[in-house]
Amino acid sequence: MKPSRLLLSIPLAFSGMLAWATGNLPIYQDETRPMDERVEDALSRMTTQEKINLIHAQGKFSSAGVPRLGIPDLWMSDGPHGVRAEINWNDWGYSNRTNDSITAFPALTALAATWNPSLSFEYGNAIGEEALYREKDVMLGPGVNIYRTPLNGRNFEYMGEDPHLASVLVVPYIKGMQQNGVAASVKHFALNNQELWRGHIDVNLSDRALHEIYLPAFKSAVVDGDSWTIMGSYNKIRGQHACHNDLLLNKILKEDWGYKGVVMTDWGGAHDTREAALYGLDLEMGSYTNGLTSESEFTTDDYYMAKPYLALIEKGDVPMSTLDDKARRMLRLNFLTAMKRNKPLGSVASPEHYAIAEKIGDEAIVLLKNASVGKKGPKLLPLSENIKNILVVGDNATRDLMKGGGSSELKVKDNVTPLKGLQAIYGDRIKYTQGYRAGKPMYSNVEKIPQAIQDSLRDEAVSMARNADVVIFIGGLNKNHLQDCEAGDRIDYSLPFGQPELIEALQAANPNLIVVLLSGNAVAMPWEKKVPAIVQGWYLGSMAGKSIANVISGKVNPSGKLPFSFPVKLEDNGAHHFGAISYPGDSIRQEYLEDILVGYRWHDTKKIPAFYPFGHGLSYTTWQYGKPSASAKTISENECLTISIPIRNNGQTAGKEVVQLYIGDDQASVLRPLKELKGFEKIALKPGEEKTVSFTIKPDDLKFYDDTTGSWKAEPGKFNVYIGSSSTDIRATVPFELK
Ligand code: GLC
Repeated sequence: MKPSRLLLSIPLAFSGMLAWATGNLPIYQDETRPMDERVEDALSRMTTQEKINLIHAQGKFSSAGVPRLGIPDLWMSDGPHGVRAEINWNDWGYSNRTNDSITAFPALTALAATWNPSLSFEYGNAIGEEALYREKDVMLGPGVNIYRTPLNGRNFEYMGEDPHLASVLVVPYIKGMQQNGVAASVKHFALNNQELWRGHIDVNLSDRALHEIYLPAFKSAVVDGDSWTIMGSYNKIRGQHACHNDLLLNKILKEDWGYKGVVMTDWGGAHDTREAALYGLDLEMGSYTNGLTSESEFTTDDYYMAKPYLALIEKGDVPMSTLDDKARRMLRLNFLTAMKRNKPLGSVASPEHYAIAEKIGDEAIVLLKNASVGKKGPKLLPLSENIKNILVVGDNATRDLMKGGGSSELKVKDNVTPLKGLQAIYGDRIKYTQGYRAGKPMYSNVEKIPQAIQDSLRDEAVSMARNADVVIFIGGLNKNHLQDCEAGDRIDYSLPFGQPELIEALQAANPNLIVVLLSGNAVAMPWEKKVPAIVQGWYLGSMAGKSIANVISGKVNPSGKLPFSFPVKLEDNGAHHFGAISYPGDSIRQEYLEDILVGYRWHDTKKIPAFYPFGHGLSYTTWQYGKPSASAKTISENECLTISIPIRNNGQTAGKEVVQLYIGDDQASVLRPLKELKGFEKIALKPGEEKTVSFTIKPDDLKFYDDTTGSWKAEPGKFNVYIGSSSTDIRATVPFELK
């Protein structure tokens, strides 16, 4: 049992108080002194072995401090959506405590779908408060790997397909968290865009794709967000493991971006002592101490960055300066977190946190389609008050979707499922039937459900549908293996567990059908034409059912926008256009052959329309975009351009709209996407209200990465600004010229 922070801090506080009272607090303990001085003072007091102890795990989720100096251990926890239940000291098992249930916040893809930076800050702060209460110093998130393929098992933990959207939203999450004295660990750096072969696949790609698509969100997280730690990914990049990669960690992260924080491995991501010593790794976690072997055989002292590293230093094979640099970074992290005294107390599962989870869910839900059932008449959503007989169908209506999925799995105090949320509004007007069975959420295999069971569940649902006024189907993916789950990718693009047939059968039985998909990925929708209303509901955590019911009932007007494209079929996605070497690779290496054309960049440039495009999301009201105005028709390379446009709420319902600004370079000497997101603003308007939204286009917004010089450049010539309600619903185009 970990002695509580209170117990540990008594001797520290006592000696501190005594020393403080006498005015001679050791420099490293004196929070009034500059950080660098404190770090140097502590380092000067430490032995080489104590420095070595700092830079590798001592248990599954803990690394050692310096007991002799009163520098406390560091405690870490997954994950990006909430504080994971306590894990055993040195194996992956849960310690089954009764005091570690928490709030599950919406998945980061849902946060991305809000397009709302202030909600991201509230999210980060709330999860930071829960981490504080649970006495965690480092939270292992947020994840910002770019959504390259709809099959990636972990897309639900990340912020979509566009580097600008992810770059803008990751910063407030980190700031909100770290203001509590809890470190973020932005992950997985970098190019962990699939789970299949994640431990070793060697990703190869152009410098332009690396810098224009896959690195920006990480750069923003460390340069603007000041993420105190960053987690390396399992895969290789151009032949070298990401967790000790000279180009990625020494050159780009620490030299070009000036990173002063801690690079930690993903759990088991270290593979070589010498590379770890020289190529930028600072903290080794999870190197296969499965806890099952006896301590004498394989302990954390045998880690790559433990005894073997000490041996290289003693042989003079690697310089002591490499160890000092790592130790400095670990000490700085410790002083910002575990050793920081005047931290807030934190809280768990508070009404405030539940309210934030609900608010994020409300703004994340995307209304994909909303039509009337016949040729005319009202649209199906929001459900009218006098609906009498509602049938809810689907395994996801009652499933605990915080279980499974891998390391982001959470044990929640409360779970308002979609069914509970709808029952809270519609009471006994709701009937429920499962419709299909999905099986247990398991980590490495799939529970087989006999077809006879699926058939009988479907027949039951169809017969009940015939007598309902409206049917709400709640399905999608889930956190089972080969669904939205770590360590595996989906094996195909379609909805699993017989859902397509069930949706078709329900629609035939009752055309008043609403389909709500809970997932972290796009799916095929062969039934879409027949279904009048479709909602993308994400994984919304503890308050999921409240948000889903809020939107279905019209209590909340949906304002979410897709953070990734829904291709019609898998082959329409750029990663799946160039055969196996591009996805999933040949099991050894992989080439990102779609290059910079990821997501909507592919769909626009190759003229392969997505089913539902990036940035798409309907509302219960309508938005009128007025005439744009520009501050100039021509700008020089150091000038900014201001674009303004009036937006009006033309409907009867208050709502929020995400006004999106894209830029296209019409005369580039290199391939560039037709347009790229460079700005967005979410505005709230009452019926009839109008607001003018202004965007300032900076010179950097026009640049591409010139891999011949290794620098960013903008070429003079014609550009277009596209302003729209989605990446394809363009309401205004403003041409301008760069001199
Ligand atoms: C896992 C995940 C990583 C997680 C870590 C600790 O393998 O890849 O995201 O934070 O190990 O559970």
